[in-house]
Amino acid sequence: MLHLKSLIVEVSTRCDRKCLLCERNVMSESVINRVMTFEQFKKIIDQFYVKTVLFLGSGEPFFAKDLFKMIKYCKSKNIITRVYTNGRLIDVFTKDIIDSVLDEIVISIDSSDPEIYKKIKRSELDKVLSNIKILKEYSDEHKLKTPTITTCTIIMKDNIDEIEKIVKFINNLGIDVISFTTIRKWFEQKEEHSVEDIIIEKAFKKIKEMSIDNKNKVFYPIFEDEKLKEKIKNLGFQVVDDLYCNCSLFIGVDGTVYPCNRIRLSFGNLLEKDIKEIQKNEEFMKQMKEVSFSCSKCRKILEPIERK
Ligand SMILES: C[S@@+](CC[C@H](N)C(=O)[O-])C[C@H]1O[C@@H](n2cnc3c(N)ncnc32)[C@H](O)[C@@H]1O
Ligand code: SF4
Ligand code: SF4
Repeated sequence: MLHLKSLIVEVSTRCDRKCLLCERNVMSESVINRVMTFEQFKKIIDQFYVKTVLFLGSGEPFFAKDLFKMIKYCKSKNIITRVYTNGRLIDVFTKDIIDSVLDEIVISIDSSDPEIYKKIKRSELDKVLSNIKILKEYSDEHKLKTPTITTCTIIMKDNIDEIEKIVKFINNLGIDVISFTTIRKWFEQKEEHSVEDIIIEKAFKKIKEMSIDNKNKVFYPIFEDEKLKEKIKNLGFQVVDDLYCNCSLFIGVDGTVYPCNRIRLSFGNLLEKDIKEIQKNEEFMKQMKEVSFSCSKCRKILEPIERK
């Protein structure tokens, strides 16, 4: 069995939104409306010794009907679980979330302004805020420590002017961890929404000067550029979440295995062949091991391809 720090599993490519920057916008019809079954998930998971499973991909995981069975299965194997969601269905599944003993929920909040949020996420900010409140109240009432709540904000032209406001806003919601990420540039969505590194650096300098409860809770997991990464790190922010890059794999909804969530070059399908077979591919193992921790460097090796 292959030992990994984390496995990123896309249990759903189904979604009822059409967010501004989502990869679904450029995926073919045959891929964007699928969910993984528990049996498929188990077949994949059982091929690894893995510390953490991230339920993350280009879709809304709550649309996968077996999601909670999957989380419970992970827990039975002492695997830490983290679900990435737009937060719209938390009210429907509050009890399931709690009963599954999910460790962490990561909720997208790309703006503190309802209009901008709507432009980016194609839905109502109020709905997500009310769902966060429901989850927090349920947890508090039952004195539960999990799931911890993290938010994730994509830094882009549309929200860069309100980054400090976003931090303050999220901090006031009593969120455990506030995270930021850069844009994954899917095909034609390339440069249009990206923010220059110097402007991102300035925004982080301002965050550093803010008085919020615990600055350590703001972090920036994935970097496009090596130099920017160093600069943000030197400002005292936690910059790399190892879970995404090193000793990790991304498994697409159909079982296709990719070296990471940002590289779309496949080396096989785990529902068709065993990871042992895929490991025989030297190029694949090279991709897994030689991680530079900045996407632009990794991308120099591999240009992403469109998922059919
Ligand atoms: C694709 S979404 C899937 C989970 C859920 N549906 C959601 O919207 O949060 C997973 C994460 O990727 C982020 N995301 C979407 N498109 C992105 C892009 N082009 N670049 C970087 N992150 C992106 C989302 O904001 C979210 O935090
Ligand atoms: S909610 Fe998530 S999966 Fe759905 S379109 Fe938006 S980013 Fe993509
Ligand atoms: S492209 Fe490289 S640096 Fe970026 S997420 Fe993937 S492994 Fe990490």
